[in-house]
Amino acid sequence: MIVIVTGSAGYIGGQTMLVLKDAGHEVYGIDFRQPPEHLRGVPDGFLYQDFASDAALSWIIQKQPNAIIHCAGTSLVGPSVKNPSEYYNNNVAKTLKLLDIVKQSMPRCRLVFSSSAATYGEPIMNPIHEVDPKEPVSPYGESKLMIDMMLESYHRAYGTDYVSFRYFNACGADPEGRHGQEPGATHLIARFLEATRDDGQFSIYGDNYPTADGTCVRDYVHVDDIARAHALALYHKIPAGVYNLGSNQGFSVKQVIEAAGTITGKMPFVSTEARRAGDPPELTASPTKFDMVVGAWRHHNLDAMIQHAWNWYVRQDKKV
Ligand code: UFG
Repeated sequence: MIVIVTGSAGYIGGQTMLVLKDAGHEVYGIDFRQPPEHLRGVPDGFLYQDFASDAALSWIIQKQPNAIIHCAGTSLVGPSVKNPSEYYNNNVAKTLKLLDIVKQSMPRCRLVFSSSAATYGEPIMNPIHEVDPKEPVSPYGESKLMIDMMLESYHRAYGTDYVSFRYFNACGADPEGRHGQEPGATHLIARFLEATRDDGQFSIYGDNYPTADGTCVRDYVHVDDIARAHALALYHKIPAGVYNLGSNQGFSVKQVIEAAGTITGKMPFVSTEARRAGDPPELTASPTKFDMVVGAWRHHNLDAMIQHAWNWYVRQDKKV
């Protein structure tokens, strides 16, 4: 298949390109950021442009892809509260442009979208099912939910074909060490491992939540499993719609850092700070809807997520 990946210089877009190339597809990347050195040469072609620019949209039409995997977007909860304009423009307005060219010029192209658990806000019940209330608590979550709604409206009205994945907590790195998270990422495993590697300090954001050990519980998903889910979504036997990508297995912050300490054999200095605004105590996914369609798609457990990420961080350090 011919597949275009937007946001291809990023963490999830980059891993998706690797998995698609491994599977033998013809893959094109598009990103306004230069691809990191380790991703150069992976796709069959790369356009250094904003995906919603006129030049990029013409380039996409000219390629006539079977699918577009749309990972581009701004994706941090906290900054979205301070600067919502960036999120509605970058995520919603630009994706609408992409949707319109798909509708007009590529009606058979499948759009696979990177949505988020942030669309659910603070759930009343865990695990969260796709049909549960969606009450995002940040402009980031709102922007992702708006796009999910646009995709469904276009599907109903114009037959636009789509799959939207609501990722829970993406983590880990390429199992073969070819790609991983960029330095300075703010996510738990990334921060903890960088602090471990650099003999630095790590802060737990709150230990007085209503959970078993007082720290927040999340559903961690290996980036390689997420990328493989995107590859599966190229096939139209997966009905159009929204799917959670998670495992219904929650781990607390303390459980994650304990597992990481065992794998790395060392610990950074750990302190406990105040809660971070907007963190729900628990977020776990019901993955049943996607499981029912594709069968087993998760191949990596929490230890593998941490081990692969650790391999990546150690390797990056050696290159410096
Ligand atoms: N945490 C710490 N210390 C850190 C970093 C994180 O204690 O240095 C804690 C957070 O408070 C949270 C947990 O680790 O309890 C996980 O935090 P992350 O930042 O790794 O991930 P989030 O759960 O905040 O973010 C995820 C997705 C987002 C999505 C959000 C919805 O990455 O895309 O869930 O709540 F929007």
